Amino acid sequence: MNPSPIGIFDSGLGGLSVLREVRAMLPHEPLIYFADSRYAPYGDKPEAFVEARTLQVCEWLAAQGCKALVIACNTATMHAVQTLRERLAVPIIGVEPGLKPAAARSRSKVVGVLATANTLKSAKFNRLLGALDGESRYLCAAGHGLVGLIEQGDVSGPAIREKLAAYLQPMLADGADTLVLGCTHYPFLSETIRDMVGNRLDLIDTGLAIARQLSRKLAEFDLAASPDAHPEVRYLSTKDAAHLHDMAAALLQVDARAETVAIEPAPPLPA
Ligand code: DGL
Repeated sequence: MNPSPIGIFDSGLGGLSVLREVRAMLPHEPLIYFADSRYAPYGDKPEAFVEARTLQVCEWLAAQGCKALVIACNTATMHAVQTLRERLAVPIIGVEPGLKPAAARSRSKVVGVLATANTLKSAKFNRLLGALDGESRYLCAAGHGLVGLIEQGDVSGPAIREKLAAYLQPMLADGADTLVLGCTHYPFLSETIRDMVGNRLDLIDTGLAIARQLSRKLAEFDLAASPDAHPEVRYLSTKDAAHLHDMAAALLQVDARAETVAIEPAPPLPA
């Protein structure tokens, strides 16, 4: 039995949607949730920054003794997962937009994909898209502005609805019946999306699949914690622990103890 923590990392609060599934499936596993909110969003930062910062944070988490890492961020996975796997000795579980499950679910064979600009332009995403059977059409939209609003705690206000309408209406008009939530922040918009489009879009979120994959890796490498353990989650933010505490309470209904940490200097960003 291995009592070391699992690190769950995102640019900000989005990975909490993955943590929710991991907690539900593996409640006995100690977790460190790391929100790099000081540098969020990653989705429109230079790709070299996203890769270098992801490596920096994950190396730090590994140095804290994490036995496995979940990159609970599609953008960071797209740009850094390969290098991470080459550099770190612990199992790395990444996330990617659920294109395949969406294609399997769609009846109209028109699938909307909402993800960050960086995810959509990454080579990895385009390889995923290219490897599909070609039976479905994918209507991809970069959700500019959504992550920033979610980071501020807005998951249902007029600003978010206005942006969502601009992204989703053209997809619906073009026949989409399925929507891939290709950014881990977006599952927190599910209720608002349902309120706006009813059941005209089937929402595809990969949180549960990630939790399953993590569970498989822990078993494969003999890393699981004792099933009798009742560990607390450590919540770490590079910006504002109080905000992370409040958001975890609002989004997950958990009263989490949160700390602010600094991992500096961050890789250079163009002025
Ligand atoms: N939650 C992230 C993702 O899954 C990152 C969003 C961002 O920082 O732009 O892509």
